[in-house]
Amino acid sequence: MLTIEHLTKNYGGFTALNDISLELEPGVYGLLAPNGAGKTTLLKLITTLLYPTSGRILWDGKEIVSMGEDYRAILGYLPQEFGYYPGYTPVKFLRYVAALQCIPKAKAEERITELLKMVGMSEYADRKMKKLSGGMKQRIGIAQAMLADPKILILDEPTAGLDPKERVRFRNLIHSLSQDRIVILSTHIVSDIETIANRIIMIKDHELLCCEAPQKICDRFAGKIYEVPAGKDYHVENGHPVVLSERQQADGTVLRIYSEEAVPNGTPVAPNLEDAFLSIYQEGEEE
Ligand SMILES: Nc1ncnc2c1ncn2[C@@H]1O[C@H](COP(=O)(O)OP(=O)(O)OP(=O)(O)O)[C@@H](O)[C@H]1O
Ligand SMILES: [Mg+2]
Repeated sequence: MLTIEHLTKNYGGFTALNDISLELEPGVYGLLAPNGAGKTTLLKLITTLLYPTSGRILWDGKEIVSMGEDYRAILGYLPQEFGYYPGYTPVKFLRYVAALQCIPKAKAEERITELLKMVGMSEYADRKMKKLSGGMKQRIGIAQAMLADPKILILDEPTAGLDPKERVRFRNLIHSLSQDRIVILSTHIVSDIETIANRIIMIKDHELLCCEAPQKICDRFAGKIYEVPAGKDYHVENGHPVVLSERQQADGTVLRIYSEEAVPNGTPVAPNLEDAFLSIYQEGEEE
């Protein structure tokens, strides 16, 4: 189990994360927050690439910064910007990463073949990295993070630049990887994690807002989300209805509205995670 205790990270006088406490068990965690909220900072603290200003992170009761190699051996990490040699092929790149991780050669070869198959890249194993599409590179990035069969897999914005088909493939892949391990993936795109995350971690104003099942987060907005045809009045006496989004229908545009009170011309609808996300961050993230 990964335990985060009262974690605070300051960059000079700026507090990026303030007093975050969490307990993570095997499963998929979606770290969902707007740009600049502190997602990468939190993930880097979990990888020990950054040190906390105060607070600590424990793996099965031991402080991760004191575990050294033992901790790195159970950790897989895909950085938000992952570096590779453009002239390398996926196989060569994965061999290189395996060597850095001191994985024995024979074992590495076996694992590389297995992983390339898992991420659907076997047929591109010998094509140069620079000639691969963004989504293909991301898949190799996930493969390198999985080399040591980590107990903790950290993926920072793994779906950036993926097309809809690749997003679906990615969701299936994450699902298949999540057996007996903690997977933490960050994104600001709700649909990427809505269906695969067991828990959603949200950060707002640099503090932990929640770590809950997606459905539970949606339930908090039950009775507060309405749809109103564009152009119709939706104002209420005392409240402040907020337009979250709009969509086109055959018979015109429909607004999706968050309101504490019933709105005129409004049809109550079941909240989805995007409604929750937009309602939670409606005032915008302070920098
Ligand atoms: N090395 C640094 N020095 C100073 N400020 C930093 C540093 N790294 C990050 N920050 C600030 O800390 C805050 C959180 O940054 P972070 O990269 O963790 O956000 P994020 O949620 O990952 O954003 P994004 O969605 O854009 O990747 C931002 O306001 C950022 O400007
Ligand atoms: Mg980031």
